[in-house]
Amino acid sequence: MVTGGAGFIGSHVVDALVDDGHDVVIVDDLSSGRRSNLNPRARFEHVDIVDAAALERVFAAFEPEAVTHQAAQTSVSVSTREPARDASVNVVGSVNVLEACVRHRTGRLVFASTGGAIYGEVEAPRLARVGDPTFPLSPYACSKLAVEHYLRMYTAVHGLHTTVLRYANVYGPRQDPHGEAGVVAIFSRRLLSALACRINARKDVGDDGCIRDYVFIADVVRANRLALAGTLGDRTINVCTGVATTTRDIAEGLMSALDLRAALEHGPWRPGDLERSVLDAAAMREEIGEPVGLGDGLRQTAQWFRDHPDPLP
Ligand SMILES: NC(=O)c1ccc[n+]([C@@H]2O[C@H](COP(=O)([O-])OP(=O)(O)OC[C@H]3O[C@@H](n4cnc5c(N)ncnc54)[C@H](O)[C@@H]3O)[C@@H](O)[C@H]2O)c1
Repeated sequence: MVTGGAGFIGSHVVDALVDDGHDVVIVDDLSSGRRSNLNPRARFEHVDIVDAAALERVFAAFEPEAVTHQAAQTSVSVSTREPARDASVNVVGSVNVLEACVRHRTGRLVFASTGGAIYGEVEAPRLARVGDPTFPLSPYACSKLAVEHYLRMYTAVHGLHTTVLRYANVYGPRQDPHGEAGVVAIFSRRLLSALACRINARKDVGDDGCIRDYVFIADVVRANRLALAGTLGDRTINVCTGVATTTRDIAEGLMSALDLRAALEHGPWRPGDLERSVLDAAAMREEIGEPVGLGDGLRQTAQWFRDHPDPLP
C-alpha cells in the first residue's frame, strides 16, 4: 500500500513497486495529488486517511504486506496558517494508518518524515545527524516528529516493524511547479516560460538564498524500496546528499541544464524559512547508495519539464 500514491514522491514509489512485480494499492484523497500520476497497473482507492472507517475497509479488502505512508498535508506555510488541519491529516491520519497496520498485522510501515524541517537551523559547517536533537519550528515539523514518536511506540508496544525516512529537499519529475515550495520545479517551469526566477534572501536581499540539501527522486524511491523490503531494519535514516546548495546554485544549474538564461530577481527573507539545512549522508551512502549528483538530477528534471509543458491536474 502506498498512501499518497497520486502525489509527487508516492507516484514514483508506486511505479517502482509495480515494476518490481508487486500488487499495489494507492490510498489518496487527491487533495494535492493528481489523477494523471496514478499508475494504471495499481489499484486506486479514493480515500481520506482521516476517515478511519474508509481506511479500514481498504486494509480489510487488500491486507497489505507492507505500507509506505507518504500521504500528508505537505505545506509548511499551510501548517502555520491552519495547524489543526495539519495535525488532523498528519497526526490523526497517521495514527489511523498505524492502527490499521496493527489490526491487520502488516509486516512493515515506512514513514515519510522530514530531515529538512525537524532539525531546525543547521549552522555551517554542521551536518544534521539522526541522533541530533530535533527542533521543529513549524506545525508541519511538529506533526512529522510526533508521528516518529508514535512509530517508536507502536514498534515497542505492538511489535510493528517501522522504518523512518527523513527526506531532505526532494526534487524531480512531477513535482508541483505551482506551489510555494519545490524551487527546482518552480524555476524549471519559469525558465521554460521565459520568466524571471526569484531568489528569496537567506538573510539580506541580494544574497544567494537559503542553503538546502537537494536529493533526487530516484534516491528517495531506492530508499523506499529497501525500507519496504526490511533491508534498512527498524530505524531512522536521513535520505539526503550531505551537499550544501543555495537557491542561486539551483537557478544556475537549471539554466545550464536547459541552456537558457533568465533574469534573477531578489526577494526578502520569508518568515519561517530556515537559513541552512544540510543533513549527514554517511548512512545513506552506506546503506542506500551513492546519491545522484545535483547536475545529473537537475538535467533529468529540466528535461521532464521541457517534455511536459503543461502538466494538468
Ligand atoms: N517533497 C519534499 O521535499 C519532501 C521532504 C520531506 C518530506 N516529504 C514528505 O513526503 C511525502 C510525499 O510528499 P510529496 O512531496 O510527494 O507531496 P505531494 O503533495 O505531492 O503528495 C502528498 C499526497 O498525499 C495525498 N494526501 C494528502 N492528504 C491526504 C489525506 N488526508 N488522505 C489521503 N491522501 C492524502 C495528496 O493528495 C498527495 O497525493 C509527504 O509525507 C511529505 O511530508 C516531502
